[in-house]
Amino acid sequence: PPHLTDLRIQSHSFGDSDCGMSSSSKLLIRGGTVVNAHHQEVADVYVEDGIVVSVKPNIQVHDDATVIDATGKYVMPGGIDPHTHLAMEFMGTVTVDDFFSGQAAALAGGTTMHIDFVIPVNGSLTAGFEAYKIKAKDSCMDYGLHMAITKLDESVARDMEVMVEERGINSFKFFLAYKDAFMISDELFLRGLKKCKSLGALAMVHAENGDAVAEGQKRMMELGITGPEGHALSRPPELEGEATGRAIRLASFVNTPLYVVHVMSIDALDEIAKAKRSGQRVIGEPVISGLMLDDSKLWDPDFTTASMYVMSPPIRKSGHNRALQAALTTGVLQLHQAKFLLFTALLDDTQESRLHCALLELVGTDHCTFNSTQKAFGIDDFRKIPNGVNGIEERMHLLWDSMVESGMISVTDYVRITSTECARIFNIYPRKGAILAGSDADIIVLNPNSTFELSATSHHSRSDTNVYEGRKGKGKVEVTIAGGRVVWQHGELNVVPGSGRYIEMPPFGHLFDGIDKADTSYLSSLNAPVKRGKAAT
Ligand code: URP
Ligand code: ZN
Ligand code: ZN
Ligand code: ZN
Repeated sequence: PPHLTDLRIQSHSFGDSDCGMSSSSKLLIRGGTVVNAHHQEVADVYVEDGIVVSVKPNIQVHDDATVIDATGKYVMPGGIDPHTHLAMEFMGTVTVDDFFSGQAAALAGGTTMHIDFVIPVNGSLTAGFEAYKIKAKDSCMDYGLHMAITKLDESVARDMEVMVEERGINSFKFFLAYKDAFMISDELFLRGLKKCKSLGALAMVHAENGDAVAEGQKRMMELGITGPEGHALSRPPELEGEATGRAIRLASFVNTPLYVVHVMSIDALDEIAKAKRSGQRVIGEPVISGLMLDDSKLWDPDFTTASMYVMSPPIRKSGHNRALQAALTTGVLQLHQAKFLLFTALLDDTQESRLHCALLELVGTDHCTFNSTQKAFGIDDFRKIPNGVNGIEERMHLLWDSMVESGMISVTDYVRITSTECARIFNIYPRKGAILAGSDADIIVLNPNSTFELSATSHHSRSDTNVYEGRKGKGKVEVTIAGGRVVWQHGELNVVPGSGRYIEMPPFGHLFDGIDKADTSYLSSLNAPVKRGKAAT
């Protein structure tokens, strides 16, 4: 059950007029700049029973509607986080944020939907799915589910069909790392790719070479490097680049779309760039930690500080983060960006010369929190530090401050990479990812003239640490509306356990359009079987 008292949540008597939080099913968001992925305009948004009814200037309503004044502010689709781990059993422990605390944190940070990863129970997908539905029963915001494939035999393959056809799952994650745990062989990965293709499900990959990582870990221990820095040193970027390239080539061989989760390095980015240039359908997902942080803290002499930053693939040296940010920029900034690139390329031959534009289309968090006592399991051996960092509450603010405020991306780009593209990829657009008549009323009001500050003392996660501790920035999510309910306003959460819904994600999303035609033209491009005479003996 949710521990309401350990969260910074106020309980409201509904309809208390002084604070404006209301359960009214009619809501008018007045006078803001309404932003969708390809358009923005000053307009009102009228919501009834959790659904957007209309978006246009000067909407007149009766006085039973709750009115939120958004003048001078941005009204945007709530964030969708494509990558979270709530209540996950991992590395001998369980993440501290469950579906309730993790979602409360998300809502306070302007994210109104997330997609979590079901971990099979003893390899069983159905058992895993049932376990996650129980974990998620007190949800206070909408969620979807991906599913990890940790072994693959006939029965798992049959279960994949059931998951897609009956349970609303349209994506499966394969691990090329975590040897002796989640990792699967290339043979099984290949089989999984074929199965995904036949089901119209998106194959996702954790791309690090697990055998080489195990070897790298052994090497570090032999050198006596047992601290958190050993984590980064044992699994360098080339191991991510190798596995990314391998996964991409295998997906190309099968001709099925691929989604690379938590892209952390230029090495992986280069592989994705190469594949995209040749027309392959590859999606790269950077996560907020990879975009914002560098590996320097892993060398902090204080174990509690250093261990906070342990995640896989590791947070990289400074430079990788800037390249990942550049890869999210597009369009109008391309010329400006190109000049910058040319300039740095002429100056030296560092990583900066390899910055890419318009390569990555969305941003996740990989929110996977462990408190400092759990991280301390690895005090003598970095291999035992539970892997993962926070981000579900911070993603929207950090991206606004670092990329919109800096002029790297436009406000419409912001909506696209935080919400719309995720909804498109996982085939739930325009119900999610847009403020259009008929869309779910998952909406945020962001004040560009206000500021935020991140800290474990004020965040809503149950974690006792925050990898963004002390970070300040511009832009503040002042109101979050989830399913038509005002759940975050005046710095207070007002969430209802059980109000979140499971969002089924149908197969054969847009990434699959034309895949069958490409197969047909490939087959017809092959010559008829060559007839040869018997070899002379
Ligand atoms: O360190 C991480 N990323 N923990 C979560 C599990 C995963 O590989 O996504
Ligand atoms: Zn209030
Ligand atoms: Zn992973
Ligand atoms: Zn993850």
